[in-house]
Amino acid sequence: MQLTDHIRAIPDYPKPGVVFRDITPLLADGAAFKHTVDTLVARYRDQGITKIVGIEARGFIFATALAYALGVGFVPLRKPGKLPRQVVSQRYALEYGEDELQLHADDITATDKVLIIDDLLATGGTVLAAVALVQALGAEIVECSFVITLHDLPGAERLNQAQIPYYTLCEF
Ligand code: PRP
Ligand code: ADE
Repeated sequence: MQLTDHIRAIPDYPKPGVVFRDITPLLADGAAFKHTVDTLVARYRDQGITKIVGIEARGFIFATALAYALGVGFVPLRKPGKLPRQVVSQRYALEYGEDELQLHADDITATDKVLIIDDLLATGGTVLAAVALVQALGAEIVECSFVITLHDLPGAERLNQAQIPYYTLCEF
């Protein structure tokens, strides 16, 4: 199965100069979506993971499917103002803007082994904010895992420099 065949390139979206990698064809194809989740399940089945952190919004899709399949907890990293209890927060820069992520402070403890999941790695700003939040709560990060990595942007290199293990299913 060639996952890249199920991801569409949309030029100049959401801004001129950005090639948006649209995963909705992959999600709409049952075999491609199942293959994506099954590949992640095979990789993470026996690694002692206790929590899967998914990043709003597209990261939730893969993180929840994987958490269900592995029978481990799912923890949402959300945009500001969405979580009702005490949060830890981190601002970050995007390829096309700026944003902030929040995590319920008691959703992760220092004994957790955490897998961070997102659909796509570009500049790495988002995932490094996620890494900072999980580390602030004292947990171990097993890996940061993506469906897509954009190799002309520095995300993978920034994770390497931070010595955070990283995995991707495909690259553009
Ligand atoms: C996209 C994507 C990643 C992030 C990657 O999310 O889903 O989370 O950008 O970019 P980076 O590596 O440069 O930080 P977006 O903020 O567009 O939100 P969405 O998932 O809610 O569409
Ligand atoms: N998030 C950040 N950059 C992106 C891109 N080029 N396509 C889809 N999602 C993104």
